[in-house]
Amino acid sequence: MRLTSMRWEDGRLSMLDQRGLPTREEWIPLADHHQVAESIRDMVVRGAPAIGVAAAYGLALAAANGADMDEAAKELAASRPTAVNLFWAIDRIMALPSLNAEAVLAEAKKVEDEDYEMNLAIGRHGQELIHPGWNVLTICNTGALATAGHGTALGVIRSAHDAGKEIHVWSCETRPRQQGLRLTAYELTKEGIPFHSIADSAAASLMRDGRVDCVIAGADRIAANGDTANKIGTYSLAVLARHHGIPFFIAAPTSTLDTKLPNGDAIPIEERGAEEITHIEGIQIAPEACHVFNPGFDVTPGTLIDAIITEEGVHSGPYSFLSERDISSL
Ligand code: MRU
Repeated sequence: MRLTSMRWEDGRLSMLDQRGLPTREEWIPLADHHQVAESIRDMVVRGAPAIGVAAAYGLALAAANGADMDEAAKELAASRPTAVNLFWAIDRIMALPSLNAEAVLAEAKKVEDEDYEMNLAIGRHGQELIHPGWNVLTICNTGALATAGHGTALGVIRSAHDAGKEIHVWSCETRPRQQGLRLTAYELTKEGIPFHSIADSAAASLMRDGRVDCVIAGADRIAANGDTANKIGTYSLAVLARHHGIPFFIAAPTSTLDTKLPNGDAIPIEERGAEEITHIEGIQIAPEACHVFNPGFDVTPGTLIDAIITEEGVHSGPYSFLSERDISSL
């Protein structure tokens, strides 16, 4: 059965609480867009495309509940700053000619269905880059739970595995929220894809020892020149990969492109709470007065990315993702 992070059934939205995985599989019912915004903020649901789908369903709930749609859109847009899919999905719904409940729900379902289709296409294109027997290193979770299904970077890994390529995955733990250890390991186990979880700091020595053949990561926002915001630690992997002559790939749907930004300098980077660093499972492990800086994302320059895989195909640098405005003026 297809692994999903949310369900719309009989006019109700529920979400798999990703904070409890892999040990606790709990579905939470959500009654209104306020609860959806809170779920995005608290990372009940996470991963750029999944956040976009959640926001779309948040607006479907707002329309069904007769809420003020502009206010609902504003509240949902304020939930997290970095993943552009959130704003892309909200803008797409708010641009509908009519914001009646039926039309908004139909569009939200389309956002979800199209994301799933885009991930399958990303997997098809991306797996061509993966050679049989490769050791593929990845970070964060970019699988079915982070999207509408299949996944982006993990979707490429899934497709390569499904094509019988006998790959092995090095899955970075991904401090501090451990999306790699909790979620990628959970998805890889369910799929039966051979893998080892590693501490983030083990990547360099694995590369030096010749035990990594490529790195593949997802994206939260890609600027027109290919600069890519993704989970903190992605940039270090790209630098390491270039140093060791290992190909570094990004996989993301075109809904993650922010062509208004010429480069990654203006991508807003979310700063998250100190407890993600100072506490583990609610237990304080740092001194009381410990000062913390906790950026959730970093920006990898497009020049370090050997290929960006979208549903359209495999793009290689130098990147120039044109905006609709640029295209219409050609
Ligand atoms: O903070 P998160 O867990 O929402 O961050 C997720 C990531 O950085 C993913 O790698 C990215 O969104 C790509 S998801 C397919």
